[in-house]
Amino acid sequence: MRLFFRALLGVLLLLPTVSATYRDEAYQNDWHIALIGASIPSSTFFHRPALDAKASLIYTLTSRSILAAINPRDGSIIWRHLLQCGASSGVARKAEGVVIAAVDRDVKAFDAMDGKLIWETAFVEKIKDLQATGGNAAIVLFENGSVAKVSGGKTIWESPAADGKDIPQSLSIQGNNVFSLYQQPSSGLRIATIPTETGILSSSSISAYIQPSDKIYGSGPVVAWTENSLSQIKFLVIGAKSSAISVAAPGGVVDIKFQASGKTILVHYETEDKSWAEVYGVDQVNGAVNSLYSLDAKAARSAFSVTESGSETYITWTLPNGESFLYGSKSADVLDSYAPDSVNSGDVSVLNAISEIIPKMEKKYAVRTFITTSSPGFHGNTYLIRNGKPIWSRPESLVSATAAAWVELLDPAAEKVAEELDVEGHKDVVGAYVHRLTRHAHELITYGPGWLTSIPGRVMDAFLNNEIKDERGGKWRDFFGFRKYAVFATKEGGLVALDVGRRGAIVWELSLVSSEDAGQWEGVQQIYEVSKGTAGIITFGGEYWEVDAFEGKVLTKGVNGGGRVKSSAILERGGKSKVIMAVLEGDKIALLPPGSSLGEPTYIVVRGDAGHLNGLRVDNITLATVKTWDFAPQPTEKIHSIINRPAYDPIASIGRVLGDRSVMYKYINMNLITIITTDPSHSSASIYILESVSGVILYSAIHAGADTTKPITAAMSENWLVYSYFGTEEANGKPAAKGYHLVVSELFESRSPNSRGSLAAAQTYSALAGEIGRPHVLSHSYIFPAEISSIGVTTTKQGITTREVLAMMPWSSSIIALPKRLLDPRRPVDRDPNEAEREEGLMKYAPALEIDPRSVINHKRELLGITDIVTTPAQLESTSIIFAYGGDLFGTRVTPSMPFDVLGKGFSKIQLVGTILALGVGVGFVSPMVRRKQINQRWLALILIFSKKTKSDILAVFSGKLGISKKIYLSLVFC
Ligand SMILES: *[C@@H]1O[C@H](CO)[C@@H](O)[C@H](O)[C@H]1NC(C)=O
Ligand SMILES: *[C@@H]1O[C@H](CO)[C@@H](O)[C@H](O)[C@H]1NC(C)=O
Repeated sequence: MRLFFRALLGVLLLLPTVSATYRDEAYQNDWHIALIGASIPSSTFFHRPALDAKASLIYTLTSRSILAAINPRDGSIIWRHLLQCGASSGVARKAEGVVIAAVDRDVKAFDAMDGKLIWETAFVEKIKDLQATGGNAAIVLFENGSVAKVSGGKTIWESPAADGKDIPQSLSIQGNNVFSLYQQPSSGLRIATIPTETGILSSSSISAYIQPSDKIYGSGPVVAWTENSLSQIKFLVIGAKSSAISVAAPGGVVDIKFQASGKTILVHYETEDKSWAEVYGVDQVNGAVNSLYSLDAKAARSAFSVTESGSETYITWTLPNGESFLYGSKSADVLDSYAPDSVNSGDVSVLNAISEIIPKMEKKYAVRTFITTSSPGFHGNTYLIRNGKPIWSRPESLVSATAAAWVELLDPAAEKVAEELDVEGHKDVVGAYVHRLTRHAHELITYGPGWLTSIPGRVMDAFLNNEIKDERGGKWRDFFGFRKYAVFATKEGGLVALDVGRRGAIVWELSLVSSEDAGQWEGVQQIYEVSKGTAGIITFGGEYWEVDAFEGKVLTKGVNGGGRVKSSAILERGGKSKVIMAVLEGDKIALLPPGSSLGEPTYIVVRGDAGHLNGLRVDNITLATVKTWDFAPQPTEKIHSIINRPAYDPIASIGRVLGDRSVMYKYINMNLITIITTDPSHSSASIYILESVSGVILYSAIHAGADTTKPITAAMSENWLVYSYFGTEEANGKPAAKGYHLVVSELFESRSPNSRGSLAAAQTYSALAGEIGRPHVLSHSYIFPAEISSIGVTTTKQGITTREVLAMMPWSSSIIALPKRLLDPRRPVDRDPNEAEREEGLMKYAPALEIDPRSVINHKRELLGITDIVTTPAQLESTSIIFAYGGDLFGTRVTPSMPFDVLGKGFSKIQLVGTILALGVGVGFVSPMVRRKQINQRWLALILIFSKKTKSDILAVFSGKLGISKKIYLSLVFC
């Protein structure tokens, strides 16, 4: 028997060992769409990262001030840098092995191959233009007109502007000279010539008639500009003795752009519905500019690119429908033309195109064109077209996501049956009977032989931990509820749905604006899920849209009936119906969808005049508003932000059980709001927690020495608030802890455990009568190592799982998840926790929070520009779904209390079954032995009763010491 157990143990040991921790699921559940934004045309180019590099990369500086290197093969980002937050212009230029970029006041040179910073220089003045010269040096033109040469982070020379009133335009380099171009207040031009070696300026004026809508362009040896509001074009070859050459511009032109490369300059004309170009050659010796050819007009809003390849200059022309044409620099004959397989019919403009042309045998060419497009609602999407075929695209327009809402997918189990029963309920008896018969027949087909035969395969997949193919797609959710749609709007008026359960796949896109009214577009105020599968969109301008959130189809488009929107809120009206209340200018109220009604009077909070905050009571019949309270900040203060509890914020337990089994009751109130005010003149920030119906201030805190220029962010959930601000080293004249502070404040019903405070005895109470009780507030402040630009809180289905605070840290481009337990304001200060506190899981308070790399939810992914983090529960209580937007798009799932309700990926089902089988075999083997032993024991008991023999005798019976068989002995006893 012992031998048997040893054998069994051996079998068990042979099975794979159980892994104690869940396998790291990094990169399994999370997804990331790295975005850079719309490319700046003059700062986008193909460039070989090193002299000996085989292939070139695409380098671009974008309107988000991100400098990026893109692989032209697949559109992946090789490296990128956010050069400045909030800036929207800048220049990037190529040099040997480096890319030099200037944004705002900084010049930085990066290794073109790996994006490492080589040198940087910061100036006092903003930079207007930059050109690279040999040896990684750069010439910089400042907004104040000065020109400087910088290299290796040092200024080599600086040449002051000849006249401070001139407006600097551009910089170009020709030979050993730098030419900087200025517009004079007298509508004329001035060209300053500076030798790159000495930096000694000589300057000459040119008379011109430049109007505000005119264009000025300088490149290499030629300066081109338009006069008298695009009616005349002038060229001037610098250094030549000749005067400017004048060409009349065609009538009806709305835009003229210049592009030059080498000795070729192209003039691109745009009218409302056509575009074309004229190509000129620059004759430097004679100071002449000669017309080479002109191209016949084609579709409007196209883009040209002038590219040098070897000794030739090529021109590519890309039309909005995706067609492109290749020309040489000598004649208007098409060298090659490319038509895409599917013609793009939308309302698209090509903003910018850059090409790389490699001549092949027999007059064939390999043409790669990187284009940036704009269509209503979507600005800045980029594509790579190779010989007319789209190779890849990047959804850069999604970089400007502003408002987002979650859309729940349908539960296939509940929904189908409910729908069918609904249909049957509306039919007569016979109709309903026929309907049910067909439904059952349909189920027979669905769950018929095919479905049955697929079961073993699915079971095997489950056992082998294979990725189980999700049988349901589209609007049907998966079993765990990991799939949801995040519907968001772009700043330009596009509306997009992403499937967060499918790595952020774009489900649909539509535009809320047309090209005609794009100018008046004021943006989306908020998006709500108004009913199952329907998104309601409120725009600032006063429109109300309803969109089928599963299909991306516009259901209704209308106006809210009152004008511009200040704010809005969604009200749950029991059951399925929801009402959006939009607060319009003048505190008028509009209920949406139109025709909705307010069941009972409602209280809302709006920003009033003169920086006040007001509580309003909205009458349920007339919708008239009455001001119920007024929150006026101090005269030097202004309201920085208002924070609500999340709309979905379930609280599983109304109290916290302490180590000694007593309970601290949470102060729970759905109407809590937090107001943050700042006072730049006194460097202070104040926090107020208000009851929003009565306007009573429940708690306030003032932080002297808060830097109001740095972000102040906050989030609320349950009965607590977290916020962060930057504390300066001095507060009220006393030294203070300089750095980022993360403060947590938690509201309890009373100071002492097991007490429910002043409202303990009340059955019901009304905030309107001022019966709100006074919470007992506990706070702790921590020093946090980095700036937090945005805070979110996880949500789960029932609120049982502990919460995590999600903080976006721009410094490390990451989101960290801080367990709420870590921020507990009950952590004992200056002493170790006692027995009871330890049992509660409280640690000794330490003022500095450290960043645990394991709690960075984006792992090694670099997140840029995130402004908002939103969360939603999955069907599993343990899991919260996260979506972060505002720059890059990022999504993941987190399990703050570990995935306690689902088997991890590392769980071996084979091992489980193996163990059960082995135990089964063991039980089968052991049970006869056990049964025999049990029978023997029963006999033993009988013997004890009947024979009163001593125990040792009886034992002797079984060990056979008496020498007689059991049967004989027993029959003796029974006789
Ligand atoms: C213009 O700006 C540069 C760079 O900051 C500075 O060095 C120079 O003195 C300024 N020139 C004038 C005239 O202010
Ligand atoms: C308005 O609210 C009052 C008070 O709750 C309620 O009695 C009344 O029925 C409501 N009227 C309408 C039209 O909803």
